[in-house]
Amino acid sequence: MVVIYDNNSLIKHMLSEKLKEETKTYHHETEVALIGRIKAIKDEQDYASLLKMFYSYFGGLEKNIDAAIDTGLMDDYHERRKTSAIADDLQALDADVPPVAGADSLPAIQNHLQALGALYVIEGSTLGGKIISKMIGQKLDAANGEALTFFNSYGEDTVNMWNSFKEKMNAQAQTDEEQAAVIETANSTFKHFAGWIARYN
Ligand code: HEM
Repeated sequence: MVVIYDNNSLIKHMLSEKLKEETKTYHHETEVALIGRIKAIKDEQDYASLLKMFYSYFGGLEKNIDAAIDTGLMDDYHERRKTSAIADDLQALDADVPPVAGADSLPAIQNHLQALGALYVIEGSTLGGKIISKMIGQKLDAANGEALTFFNSYGEDTVNMWNSFKEKMNAQAQTDEEQAAVIETANSTFKHFAGWIARYN
């Protein structure tokens, strides 16, 4: 028997496409909550407070991902953006680096697939990061742009880095069960972040 795949149905079954579809509502909510906060930024202190919110949540996530990810599979993990960039930006603003979020405020990340789900959210945020850095750069001098390294993401390389992440991720979760595990953690990562944003002053 000859099976003819049409390209569209192949694309729809890829994990990255399912993730995009199934996290759409959460992404939109996060975006709305953040845009309000960013618009309200008036000085470097307000910006430092936004950075602290990201540092504490993403920093907690990163610690848990570090412990669970298989770097034999995600072989460029150590070259990807890290929360140490936020610590550098805070230092450029002479602001303190806060402690990271604890287990109660974070999704469960105990294996490689769960690590991939959380990493999908963090890596995807590099795309919005470029928009955030532009918005902030227009408002503030932000220590001559030195305090914008985190939101600048991978600069010109951001789309390439995103595409290579998706390619690796898609190859590592192919069964329905594996894909469901990644999607569940991605949604949980967005949900916990929404809670963190709502509580963080
Ligand atoms: C002001 C805030 C934000 C804006 C304006 C924004 C905007 C965007 C844009 C324009 C894209 C690319 C869509 C595309 O090319 O298809 C995107 C993708 C994405 N963003 Fe955001 N974003 C924001 C914040 C965030 C945050 C804080 C997170 C994570 C916590 C996040 C996670 C993602 C993810 C995972 C994707 C990839 C979606 C996909 O699978 O293609 N975003 N965002």
